[in-house]
Amino acid sequence: MLGGCAGEQSALDPAGRGAEQIAALFWWMLGGAVVIWCIVVGLAIYAIRIAPGPHDDRQMRLWVIGGGAVIPTLVLTVLLIYGLSMLPGLVRAAPEGSLQVDVVGLQWWWQVRYPASESVKLANEIRIPVGEPVQFNLTSADVIHSFWIPALGGKVDMVPGRETRLTLEPTRTGRFRGVCAEYCGASHALMAFDVVVMERAAFDEWLAAQQEPAKEPQGPLEVRGREVFLRRGCGACHAVRGTRADGVVGPDLTHVGSRASLGAGTLENSPDAFRKWIAHTSRTKPAVRMPDFDMIPEADLRALAAYLESLQ
Ligand code: CUA
Repeated sequence: MLGGCAGEQSALDPAGRGAEQIAALFWWMLGGAVVIWCIVVGLAIYAIRIAPGPHDDRQMRLWVIGGGAVIPTLVLTVLLIYGLSMLPGLVRAAPEGSLQVDVVGLQWWWQVRYPASESVKLANEIRIPVGEPVQFNLTSADVIHSFWIPALGGKVDMVPGRETRLTLEPTRTGRFRGVCAEYCGASHALMAFDVVVMERAAFDEWLAAQQEPAKEPQGPLEVRGREVFLRRGCGACHAVRGTRADGVVGPDLTHVGSRASLGAGTLENSPDAFRKWIAHTSRTKPAVRMPDFDMIPEADLRALAAYLESLQ
């Protein structure tokens, strides 16, 4: 049970301003709940064991009204005011000039764009600098999803046809895990994303590298992989900037080899995982839009995996 108290996806191990406030609210609620629980159990023991006889009618009525109505109303009112007073800070717009990140939720992955760097299109990976407020502009392309990075802050729904907003301010560097917090279909549990919080200089360097077109394949295996990629029609859905593949339905693969995971947080990023994903997509992610390409011969698949892995 204590495993939930730390780690890359724990709201109890905050690494952002919003998450710190939410964790404080949680600890206050937990503390209050423990105190109230002790009092209630103490009274029950008193009534059953210590003074089991009949009780005075008037006194009993006072206990019921006080303990059953007055105290809960007071406690919940205090909690409501405390909780609501946090909200404006959690959903406020980031100050003018802050980094903006646009995220679109899809069944079952995340498209990520940096409006200030137009060519950059990521999938299932967000990198942000530490110690700065970052504004996320959120929407959905199909059903309602919910954008949640527990270690950094609260969750906000992504609604088709509407833009919602969330400001997060990470307080330490590291890698964290984001998830979808709204049931959105068969593979709802299989749409996660990686969040990397970096020092500003490292972030700028990374963003500049992401703006570059895809690397030319080096070895013969990678060259063959690119040929397979283009011949098999992968470019109808996926884009690789610098080649003629310019599909927009699936994730942009220009720098797919540099990503922390594959299949929206479901597989590690390795040539083996690429082969498994491409040949048996639906085995990894039920009901996924991408068809299984199990008709691709093993040697071609190996080349394709090597090419994609080389797209750093
Ligand atoms: Cu997207 Cu659940």
